[in-house]
Amino acid sequence: MKQIKALKRQLPNRPPSHPKLPLLGNLHQIGALPHQSYKQLSDKYDPVMHLKFGVVPVIVFSSAEAAREFLKIHDLKYSCTVQRLTGSIILRMAFGKKFRGSNFDNNRFQDLVQAASALQARFAANECFPYYMFLAGVDTSAITLKWEMSELVRNSRMMSKSQDEIRNCIGKKGRVTEVDIEQLYFLKMIIKETLRLHPSGPLLLPREAVSHFEVDGYDIYPKTIIQVNAWAISRDPNYLKKPEEFCPERWWLTSA
Ligand code: HEM
Repeated sequence: MKQIKALKRQLPNRPPSHPKLPLLGNLHQIGALPHQSYKQLSDKYDPVMHLKFGVVPVIVFSSAEAAREFLKIHDLKYSCTVQRLTGSIILRMAFGKKFRGSNFDNNRFQDLVQAASALQARFAANECFPYYMFLAGVDTSAITLKWEMSELVRNSRMMSKSQDEIRNCIGKKGRVTEVDIEQLYFLKMIIKETLRLHPSGPLLLPREAVSHFEVDGYDIYPKTIIQVNAWAISRDPNYLKKPEEFCPERWWLTSA
């Protein structure tokens, strides 16, 4: 009995996996919005799951506990971010096809890079915005703003409440400062709720495990790609009432 127990401890405890196709692995189960496909799979199976993209092993965390354990304890020590994978996922999502061999590969991508470099040169002049920071900040903020406006357009009560708050606090003041923004409690709650329901980085940056570690009792091995589904976590009904609803007031206590 003791020997069986010792042997069991030696066997790897891998997270639950899903039926796979030869060569493709689980790729056929992932749609144009991977965070939504991951959530559908994890709702069906487990908040920590093991997938295969071709030959690449991928672990997806969709629960706050597993994500916290990984990000707080193991992230810096045992993994590194994988920019290459992010790039190819973004290209794939944005253009709906593989980058290599496409028309985009040679001609149009060159144009894009040239335009981006010209833009970078302008910003490099004041050395405030390295190019990556510029991209990381502009797109995420613009997407958040668009979602926020869409939610307010759908809800006239919230729109008027926010307009009243701004008129009362700012009025006809020409120059708005950070001190003024501090008083806009309702606007801040609207922004938090927008970031919760529509995070512009729904899967965080993918990491690659560089050595073995354990999360939630599961073994994770080097070369595994790790994805944290922030989109699924922030809609988890175990933590929030009516998580699919846009309800800025839920942040009242944290903002007061
Ligand atoms: C609504 C606005 C924004 C959202 C939702 C957002 C979201 C994110 C997310 C999800 C990540 C990945 C974090 C991780 O995987 O650990 C990230 C990384 C990053 N963001 Fe933002 N971001 C925003 C605005 C900005 C702005 C304004 C800047 C710069 C001025 C910026 C610069 C960066 C940089 C440099 C990283 C990479 C950090 C690293 O490699 O460790 N972001 N952001």
